[in-house]
Amino acid sequence: MNASLETYLKKQISKIDSALERLLPIETGLSGPVFEAMRYSLMAGGKRLRPILLLAGAEAVGGNAADFIPFACAIECIHTYSLIHDDLPSMDDDDLRRGRPTCHKVFGEAVAILAGDGLLTFAFELMSNKDLIGHIPPERANRAIFIIAKAAGPFGMVGGQTADILLEGRDADPGMLSFIHSHKTGAMIQASVEAGGILGEGTREEVEWLSRYGAALGLAFQIVDDILDIEGERAIIGKPVGSDAKKKKITYPAVFGMAEAKRKAAILLDEALSAIAHFDEKAEPLRALARYVVERDR
Ligand code: IPE
Ligand code: IPE
Ligand code: MG
Ligand code: MG
Ligand code: MG
Repeated sequence: MNASLETYLKKQISKIDSALERLLPIETGLSGPVFEAMRYSLMAGGKRLRPILLLAGAEAVGGNAADFIPFACAIECIHTYSLIHDDLPSMDDDDLRRGRPTCHKVFGEAVAILAGDGLLTFAFELMSNKDLIGHIPPERANRAIFIIAKAAGPFGMVGGQTADILLEGRDADPGMLSFIHSHKTGAMIQASVEAGGILGEGTREEVEWLSRYGAALGLAFQIVDDILDIEGERAIIGKPVGSDAKKKKITYPAVFGMAEAKRKAAILLDEALSAIAHFDEKAEPLRALARYVVERDR
């Protein structure tokens, strides 16, 4: 990673982390345990890629990223919910996440499920809270919420996770593979950038190009995730290695082989970069983030 990207990521991560810290309530009453479990998973680190992409998307079209922090935090809450549920015994049955024991290992399955539910609904509270988003034109805020809701739900991530789970162990064809990856992971990454463009008051065309960038990058992101499940190091990725093979998941390396999976990720990087080729220097962070997604080791 080059020094300027490293500095940029550090700055953005600390912005997101301190906003999450501020926005996530601490409750000590009878519902205390669910807040504790939400906080445990949310504040465990993580690359914060989706909120960073939302802010970078807004900046690329000339928006003031600081105005959209609640949306960025909401995206991270939805993402963290998806990780908590993804790790459950009935799903991928994993015991390590973000370098810590998974939520259900610490709080039990019932509270982990509820912590996921809590993060998902809390995200919508953040995105519709007038005190937090009152300065955003309502029509823009509404469109961004719609894009994010659709990407998170049955037309996006939830749909992809359904296929991912139900097709475990099946002979995969490339159609299934791209459906799973573009839905379970691609949709939320695409929505992050697109919502950023909408909130930043990008033109229709700009938002369309951002959406294409996000679609290519989202698919590349999951291909690299599959690669790291084989070639990554547990201590660095902060989650188990070999989880996909254990569950006979449909992945790019499993279907196409490792070399072809890497080639496909590189092609998608080019696609993402060319989608934003005619943006000016305000899109430089998006370009650096795209390279980072494909070259990352965690
Ligand atoms: C992991 O996402 C789940 C996938 C969609 C592949 P990340 O790799 O972004 O996880 P964190 O947020 O950095 O922990
Ligand atoms: C999960 O994909 C995508 C989600 C929507 C959470 P994976 O199951 O490959 O994610 P990891 O590898 O456990 O992070
Ligand atoms: Mg999974
Ligand atoms: Mg998993
Ligand atoms: Mg994985």
